[in-house]
Amino acid sequence: MSKMEEIQKICLNRGIIFPTAEIYSTISGFFDYGPVGTLLKRKFIDYWREIFVKNEDNILEMEGSIILPEKVFEASGHLKSFVDPITQCLKCKSIQRADDLIQEKTGKFVEGKSVKELTEIINNEKIKCPRCGSPLGEVKLFNLMLKTDISPVGGQTAYLRPETAQNIFTSFQRLFRVARSKLPFGVAQVGRSFRNEISPRHFIIRVREFNQVEIEMFYDPQNAGCKKFDEVKDKKIVILTREAQKKNSKPLTMTAEELLKKKIVPSEWLIYFMAKEFEFYKSLGIPEDCLRFREMLKEEIPHYSIGNYDLEINFEFGWKETVGNSIRTDHDLKNHMENSGQNMIVTTEDNRKIIAWVAEPSFGIDRTIAGILLHCFVEDKQRGWNWFKFPVKITPYPVAVFPLLNKDDIPEKAREVYNMLKKEFDVLYDDSGSIGRRYARTDEVGTIFSVTIDYDSLENDTCTVRHRDTTKQVRVKIKDLISIIKKLINEEIEFEKVGTLLK
Ligand code: GLY
Repeated sequence: MSKMEEIQKICLNRGIIFPTAEIYSTISGFFDYGPVGTLLKRKFIDYWREIFVKNEDNILEMEGSIILPEKVFEASGHLKSFVDPITQCLKCKSIQRADDLIQEKTGKFVEGKSVKELTEIINNEKIKCPRCGSPLGEVKLFNLMLKTDISPVGGQTAYLRPETAQNIFTSFQRLFRVARSKLPFGVAQVGRSFRNEISPRHFIIRVREFNQVEIEMFYDPQNAGCKKFDEVKDKKIVILTREAQKKNSKPLTMTAEELLKKKIVPSEWLIYFMAKEFEFYKSLGIPEDCLRFREMLKEEIPHYSIGNYDLEINFEFGWKETVGNSIRTDHDLKNHMENSGQNMIVTTEDNRKIIAWVAEPSFGIDRTIAGILLHCFVEDKQRGWNWFKFPVKITPYPVAVFPLLNKDDIPEKAREVYNMLKKEFDVLYDDSGSIGRRYARTDEVGTIFSVTIDYDSLENDTCTVRHRDTTKQVRVKIKDLISIIKKLINEEIEFEKVGTLLK
């Protein structure tokens, strides 16, 4: 069993993530987050907000509608350009993504090739249907947006948004006024987006309904400096440039300042976000050597961008884009202005009339969760079970409480402690099976501090606390538990010093 398969098994058994409407097994590319997964996702979002929104003074938030009228996507270019090439088996009628299939069968990278070229490659390379081995039909373009109709009698086409960004662009003028009509300012949005992927795959990495968090940073292209750039200028990042990809050479490690000076990424704002992203993803437990930025090749960049520098995570099957960093220019605002007839022009402080440019970091939340699950997973032969070493900020249940035995007033005392701790933390209560099994279950969801109530607790109001990472245990006073756990979470004190270490 591969590591990711082992992780998926734990996800199913421990309430982290499972397939949607699993009992019917009819749809792929949709997943439900269970009780543990929901907390993991929520804590990730909170931590993300802390770093990327609350730490900034000019980034606002909004929450937009998921269904948007067709006109939005006519203007944004998604109707015409948000397409994937597909080919259908002439016999079994199964549909394949043509570019992926060619790459799988021949190793050739064909992104950006025309449908005619792709059809020729399929014919020349004699690529057949991977399901039944029959010949494949001509390659066609398939729009990835999920269509709906909002009129009961039909004729009012709308789409489930393929990115959260468009709500921000269409409401730009209102948001700009909230930002005191001054550039630069950013708008962040956490929300769901939808793409009708032809071949959903790799667990929650390529799915049809997904969670994103995007920032649209609006700035004046003639005054494009980022005030806080000094804070990140010495931060190191790893980047695989187009040139390095062509020469098959290694990624470069350089500071944010070097990246700017050498004009490798032509946007100070984007480099600012990229430097923050690199630090942030390391703090999520993803090792530095499994993180890199990759400059998209010309033929890969989305229709709205003049350059993409995507943060990729190394998964078992290869590197995968997890944060898309785009220079969207004035593409969206300009097109919405032309198509809606509404003014998107703003006046700069020096009285110029401009359409703002946009730098966009777009985070795939589910992909990030997949990266966290993979890289925080500890295969532990010594313990006899595998577990997640989640960083404390995003641990679903940082604390668990166990009654050692289910008799002699121990459960009542344990419930009392549980109720006390629940006011401060997300806490698990587990009273079934041996203590060893309970440690295994809580390790499997990454719980850091396991509190056990025993006979001594009844005698002298103390309890034991076990640390997930070392399995060491200390005995502490119950009345000090909350402040001890808070200090441990904030790394203000060492675990072994909080009480009497048990041998
Ligand atoms: N907004 C960019 C993307 O979703 O890919």
